[in-house]
Amino acid sequence: MALERTFSIIKPDATRRNLTGAVNALIEKAGLRIVAQKRVLMTRAQAETFYAVHKERPFFGELVEFMISAPVVVQVLEGEGAIAKYRDVMGATNPANAAEGSIRKEFALSVGENSAHGSDSAENAAIEIAQFFAGNEIVG
Ligand code: RTP
Ligand code: MG
Repeated sequence: MALERTFSIIKPDATRRNLTGAVNALIEKAGLRIVAQKRVLMTRAQAETFYAVHKERPFFGELVEFMISAPVVVQVLEGEGAIAKYRDVMGATNPANAAEGSIRKEFALSVGENSAHGSDSAENAAIEIAQFFAGNEIVG
């Protein structure tokens, strides 16, 4: 498997409950390395751009409001097969369906307030990383 980078967001429901370190512990336990990280309050424009793929979905407005409701922690994670691995570490979108020990099983409040985002493809990982980090802010 190839060494990959994926983009992660620790979402507002998690930062609000002071769970950044607890989420990071699960990431590191899975063998992923946090090679860039910063805490930001997303602007509405940033959140709308980030989730543009969902703009026709009924939950889009609610999703954008949620993502700008409190700070998030944006991250770049590196590891063997990092993109698929982090989707496993996060668990299913709906915490009711998330595997035992996953971030969403442990911490998510609902399908909307689900504690973490992870890129779903190599192409999207590259786009998402570039939206939040300059190349010299990522140190592997
Ligand atoms: P993400 O993009 O945040 O990593 O999550 P995902 O791939 O597991 O799920 P996706 O289908 O891409 O949905 C993006 C985010 O939108 C919110 N959502 N709310 N109320 C709802 O029915 C609903 N469905 C999705 C969640 O925050 C989800 O993570
Ligand atoms: Mg998604």
